[in-house]
Amino acid sequence: MRAVVVETPGDLDQLRLMDSVERPSVGDNDVLVRTAYAGMNFMEVLIRRGDYLRNPKYPLILGSEASGIVEEVGSAVTDFKAGDRVAVLSGDRGCYAEYVCVEQTHVVPIPDAMDLRTAAAYPLQVLTGWGILFASARIQEGDWVLVHACAGGVGLALVQMARIAGCQVIGTTSSEDKAELAREMGCEHVINYTQQDFGREVRKIVPEGVNVICDSVGKVNVIGNLRAIANFGLIVVFGYASGEPKYDDKLLWGRSCGITMNGLYHLVPHRREFTRAVRETTQWILDGRLKLHIGQEYDLSEVQEAHRALEGRQSIGKLLLRINSELK
Ligand SMILES: NC(=O)c1ccc[n+]([C@@H]2O[C@H](COP(=O)([O-])OP(=O)(O)OC[C@H]3O[C@@H](n4cnc5c(N)ncnc54)[C@H](OP(=O)(O)O)[C@@H]3O)[C@@H](O)[C@H]2O)c1
Repeated sequence: MRAVVVETPGDLDQLRLMDSVERPSVGDNDVLVRTAYAGMNFMEVLIRRGDYLRNPKYPLILGSEASGIVEEVGSAVTDFKAGDRVAVLSGDRGCYAEYVCVEQTHVVPIPDAMDLRTAAAYPLQVLTGWGILFASARIQEGDWVLVHACAGGVGLALVQMARIAGCQVIGTTSSEDKAELAREMGCEHVINYTQQDFGREVRKIVPEGVNVICDSVGKVNVIGNLRAIANFGLIVVFGYASGEPKYDDKLLWGRSCGITMNGLYHLVPHRREFTRAVRETTQWILDGRLKLHIGQEYDLSEVQEAHRALEGRQSIGKLLLRINSELK
């Protein structure tokens, strides 16, 4: 099968499209999926560079989510069968390929009305956003929520879901194009952090500070976040595009505020919560309240170009890799 392999971590030229990689073998609990599209995520840049928090073993096939059609299931699989249309979450590897094999708990059922292009843009970023807002922050109607990188994949999902829950949303981003898209998606206030100090700007908009901060940028945001957070607020760190953040306990005391981390793969095993997350988010997508903005599509052979955009803050919304896009 064709697949994008990273032999050793490094620059863009470590992304190699190979023609004859062995198809993964199917264990008892596994589901083998013929992929239509792979969704692209910033974490794949970190994995390619060797900067991921838990660095995986290399060489690997890159890619952490995809949509497609079930080709084969293991003997212990009860919930899926060959021919089912699905999305998959594959952890730190596997999806930039014509076939991907995952445990059945990592297969996400999709409604009949959802096409496979939308399905590839859906699970990783939307379910991460759901976990941040509803499992970690437990947002309430009327809360003020600050979303960093608000025009990115997870960012746009966070903005829209916080609005669905009745919150007021402030976003930060680096350009006017991105700010405009975030506003279109419901972000009431957008701060361009390259021109303004976001912590001070937040206090002008909401003098008591925000109740929740969703932060995937990390290190460079620490001071601004401490300025922006309200007393008793919660900072949810779920990424570190600028490096790992370090918070001084004494400063957190100064606001009686908290800090927590959120990872999608802690939501997946909580089957009741995870099922609720899938049910709610697929419904919001189908009824049009949650829009998945697909910014750009690339062929597998253009994977380096796609990574350049993601890494260089040029991507807006979701990027997709076309693999077997004729699959329906
Ligand atoms: N914890 C989890 O389970 C989980 C799951 C999925 C994703 N994540 C994390 O969530 C974040 C967003 O993921 P995504 O796939 O939706 O990516 P994305 O937001 O579409 O792209 C990354 C964005 O981060 C911003 N950014 C700020 N500082 C940056 C820097 N130094 N280098 C590059 N980008 C920088 C840029 O937006 P602006 O131009 O607006 O600043 C950039 O467009 C990533 O950090 C990812 O690792 C975590």
